[in-house]
Amino acid sequence: MPGHAPYDPTLYKGSAPYYLRGRPPYSFALRETLAVECGLDGTGRLLDVGCGPGVLAVALAPLFDEAIGLDPDTDMLTEAARHSGRQRITNIRWVQGLAEQIPDLGLGSFRLVTFGQSFHRTDRERVAEAVYDLLEPGGSIALVAHTVDDRPVPAGPGYPTIPHEAIGSLIDKYLGPGLRAGQGFVSMPADRWQDALGRTRFGRGRQLFAPGRADIVKGIDGVLANYLSMSFAAPHLFGDRLELFEAEVRRTLVERSPSGLFWDWPGDTDIVIAGKPNGVLA
Ligand SMILES: C[S@@+](CC[C@H](N)C(=O)[O-])C[C@H]1O[C@@H](n2cnc3c(N)ncnc32)[C@H](O)[C@@H]1O
Repeated sequence: MPGHAPYDPTLYKGSAPYYLRGRPPYSFALRETLAVECGLDGTGRLLDVGCGPGVLAVALAPLFDEAIGLDPDTDMLTEAARHSGRQRITNIRWVQGLAEQIPDLGLGSFRLVTFGQSFHRTDRERVAEAVYDLLEPGGSIALVAHTVDDRPVPAGPGYPTIPHEAIGSLIDKYLGPGLRAGQGFVSMPADRWQDALGRTRFGRGRQLFAPGRADIVKGIDGVLANYLSMSFAAPHLFGDRLELFEAEVRRTLVERSPSGLFWDWPGDTDIVIAGKPNGVLA
C-alpha cells in the first residue's frame, strides 16, 4: 500500500473565505443523530479534526462542556473563529495542527472525535489509532460526509441543478486534465473509510444516513464559492487567470438559469460511527 503523502499547505490556499458560503450544510438531523448514537448529554469534550472553518465544531459544541477544532490551515482557523463568534459559541478552542500530530499535542481526552470530510486527508489508520487512545471509555469516532452514492434523490425546489459537468469542463480548460490539488493532483484512498477503520482497534463501526437537505438554493456567487472552496479549484491554482475563469463560470450559469438560482443537492449525510468499549482504560 503506498504511504500517506505529506501534508501540502497549499491544498486550500485562498479557499477558506469561500467555504461557509459555498459548501452545502449537512443534514438537519446530524446533531440529533450523533447525540442519540453517541450518548451525548451536554458534558464531556469534543475534538473536531480537520475542522476547516468550524462547520461541525460550531454545530456540535453545545452538546459538550468543551470543544476543540484542529486544523493545519491558519486561514481556515481564522474563519472558524469568526464563525463561532457570530454564532456566540464560546466553548471552542481552535488549535493549529495536523491529525498526525495528535499524540504530541496534549489535547486531553474526549467523548467524541469527529472528522467532517477530512478523514481521507489523513494517514487514516495511524490517526484512528491515535484517536482511540484519546477517547474516554465508551467514547466514539464519527466520520461525516455528504454522499449521493446509492441514495434516493428527493424532489427539489424547482430550480435547475448546478451544471457540474459544464463547470468541470471549464476547470479542465484552465487547469488541464486531472484534478489538481495543492502542488500535485487529487489522490483519494482506494478503499472506504470503514475499510480503514476495520484495520484499527475500532473495527468497521456502523454506517448511518441522515436525510440530506433538499432545500438548498444557491445564487451564482454561491455556486462559484462552492467551487473556489474545493482543493481542485482553489483560487491559487488559477493564478492571474482567476477572474477570467470566474467570468466564464458566471456566463455558463446565467445561460443555464436565467433567474440565476440553482438547486444544490449535496446528498444525504453519511455518518460512520465506531466506539471504544466501556471498561477500556483511556
Ligand atoms: C474539506 S475540508 C473539511 C472542513 C469541515 N470539517 C467540514 O466538515 O466541512 C478538509 C479540511 O481538512 C484539513 N486537513 C487537510 N489535511 C489534514 C491533516 N493531515 N490533518 C488535519 N486536517 C487536515 C484541511 O486544512 C481542511 O480544512
